[in-house]
Amino acid sequence: MISKRLRIASEYLKGFNYLADCGTDHGLLPIYAVKNGYVKKAIASDNKNMPLLQAKNNIAENNLIGKVSAVLAEGLSYLYVEKDVDVVSILGMGGKLIVDILAKADLINVKRLILSANSQNYEIRKFLEENRWKIISEEFFKENQKYYQIIVSEKGRMELSELEREFGPLILENKNEVFKERINKMIQQLKRAKIKALNKETKQKITKRIKVLKEALS
Ligand SMILES: C[S@@+](CC[C@H](N)C(=O)[O-])C[C@H]1O[C@@H](n2cnc3c(N)ncnc32)[C@H](O)[C@@H]1O
Repeated sequence: MISKRLRIASEYLKGFNYLADCGTDHGLLPIYAVKNGYVKKAIASDNKNMPLLQAKNNIAENNLIGKVSAVLAEGLSYLYVEKDVDVVSILGMGGKLIVDILAKADLINVKRLILSANSQNYEIRKFLEENRWKIISEEFFKENQKYYQIIVSEKGRMELSELEREFGPLILENKNEVFKERINKMIQQLKRAKIKALNKETKQKITKRIKVLKEALS
């Protein structure tokens, strides 16, 4: 069984041909996607040997040798030769690292990006906006008491406001219950911090931040 997070991400692979899953760790997403016929073949890549070894074992156990290949590589460096890759997933890393990987990659033939950062989603959306990628879908959900976002992007133009860069244009449009819960929790935490804050400057900063969060809810 794969996690809810990987299952949601896998839905966006349907109908594509060749997946590159960067930072694959145990290779769970590419294995699931090929096994279920969402994509025909996949690369499971990682820049460390140990996770890749595990991915190799999992690929063999699932009889997917030849359909899912385990590749030791920094970021998406292999896209220069793997010209048939049409969909890329990068999940479970920091947003700045994801941006760094995308900035160095040859994405000419890639049609869709599926991205899920542990943090720094602002940086991801800014990169997409500046590099002619358009957000076509966003997910905001909770699994094991942790909040996750998934950003799905295809080539195109978009212009985002500061609020949209931080929270996500489609997440803001939908404002699902999990998102509202998350923002309300953040507001409550800040209110408690404001009571404890010792100086005026800190209190002002917190008030400003609460205002932004309330704007995201409105
Ligand atoms: C937390 S795991 C995420 C695994 C899986 N993608 C998921 O979301 O469940 C992050 C993986 O990214 C790999 N990684 C980190 N930096 C990388 C880079 N620059 N290039 C390729 N892989 C990287 C790590 O070795 C690790 O296996």
